[in-house]
Amino acid sequence: MVDSNNNYYDEFLDIVDDLINTPEFGRLAKCRHHYGVTRMQHCLNVAYYSFVLCKRLHLDYRAAARAGLLHDLFYYEWRSDEMGFFEHASVHSREALSNAEKLTELSDLERDIIRNHMWLCGLIWPRRRETYIVSVADKVCAVWEAAHGMRLKAAKAT
Ligand SMILES: [Fe+2]
Ligand SMILES: [Fe+2]
Repeated sequence: MVDSNNNYYDEFLDIVDDLINTPEFGRLAKCRHHYGVTRMQHCLNVAYYSFVLCKRLHLDYRAAARAGLLHDLFYYEWRSDEMGFFEHASVHSREALSNAEKLTELSDLERDIIRNHMWLCGLIWPRRRETYIVSVADKVCAVWEAAHGMRLKAAKAT
């Protein structure tokens, strides 16, 4: 899990500090994303690794960090809703974009990242390379976080 011990965390924080300290982002600490992982932690993980990858690849790492942080800025618990996975994939990215636009000014690239981060989970196609990076980081982090949750559950059961 990403925290202040990560190598580039200070540089990352310089870019996203204003967003992290908003009540809207703070609310994500109360949303469960995976077992034992909050949506706030998930967004931090995705944003940080997208930032590092885009920096290495000489892409727009600032947009990747900021939009990565806001890519799941929604508050509902989709698992307990009537909503199926594919509907959720489309609904939550639109909702995150709408919430992000209320929170800060977004560039076209940041909009593309948030709106299309669920690439491969619906008929959506990113228009920019940074969006593919955030989308892949999102999927890798989701698998990693789910595995972390399973380990926590197993440890609790023993
Ligand atoms: Fe998402
Ligand atoms: Fe996500």
